[in-house]
Amino acid sequence: MKGIEKNAIEEISKSQTQEELERVRLKYLGRKGIITEKLSELSKLALPEKKTVGREINTIKKNITYAIEKQFIEIKKKNIHEASRCYIGTKNAIDITLPGKPFDFGKLHPLTQIMNEVKDIFVNLGFNIATGPEIETDYYNFTALNIPKDHPSRDLQDTFYVAIKNEKLKIKNEDLLLRTHTSPVQVRVMEKQKPPIRIIAPGKVYRHEAVDASHSFVFHQVEGLAVDTDVTFADLKAVLEIFVKKMFGENVPSRFRPSFFPFTEPSAEVDMQCLICKGIGCSVCKQTGWVELLGCGMVNPKVFKSVGYDTEKYTGYAFGIGIERVAMLKLGIDNMRLFYENDLDFLSQF
Ligand code: DAH
Repeated sequence: MKGIEKNAIEEISKSQTQEELERVRLKYLGRKGIITEKLSELSKLALPEKKTVGREINTIKKNITYAIEKQFIEIKKKNIHEASRCYIGTKNAIDITLPGKPFDFGKLHPLTQIMNEVKDIFVNLGFNIATGPEIETDYYNFTALNIPKDHPSRDLQDTFYVAIKNEKLKIKNEDLLLRTHTSPVQVRVMEKQKPPIRIIAPGKVYRHEAVDASHSFVFHQVEGLAVDTDVTFADLKAVLEIFVKKMFGENVPSRFRPSFFPFTEPSAEVDMQCLICKGIGCSVCKQTGWVELLGCGMVNPKVFKSVGYDTEKYTGYAFGIGIERVAMLKLGIDNMRLFYENDLDFLSQF
């Protein structure tokens, strides 16, 4: 009996792989194994002998089982160790000179990148960042900005009105809307702060618009506002020229063109030479050689009156930049929809 145990223990300790060890286990403890057979032969013995031999075989079985478990752990440890070794030339070696699998790093969305660039330019010029709600009231979005009740932009065709049933809200349902521009932030800032003011307000705006290559029902703007005792149109021009040069390069021609906005007087739009065709004329600039970049002007005294500013004392300028427009020109993209489709092949280029 002792011989069986000795042999088993020896064979177990010689087993170097899980397969070898399993073979030894079956040889001794399997259904037809040596120990199993010895146990089944017990029934042939007389009672007193049965007891002592039975005890002996069970002890041997326990010892063999324990030795197998121990060896199993040893083999496992050895396997892990081998796998983690990287000696060149050894079996299963890991070639550490091979380049690793590259990680896919996440990136900021191109619109976020452009938005950050615009913010940086103005922050470096001394502007602070202000924010306002995307669900606005008719008052801040239109009335306080001198947009009259019958103005076409108030139409249901252009504006998303919001119906919220909540008795606690002091605002009437029909007065809530998704802001159609970032200009209401001007009013909110001026209500809280006295001049001097120099802020930009970046954010999302919404219009009841069908989606096409140059329109979307949600897009981004950066509003700007500067108010002080002696702010002039020349200041506005200087700041926006710096912006265009920093954003698109020193030598890109830009121009101020007279325009109209109810909240500024006088008003202008800034165009820059089309970067796609270099001013020759193409589909992006509708063959004009120029593309419209932003709206701006001197703050209309009626807006100052709505926030209680002294119109004799203060002057100011304001501007509103369309971020998608800037991004399309800067990145050479002729279809705005690409920004919203989240196609990784497109996004990973930037
Ligand atoms: N709010 C205007 C729009 O969405 C853009 C704009 C024009 C903003 C002139 C201004 C401004 O602050 O002075 O079309």
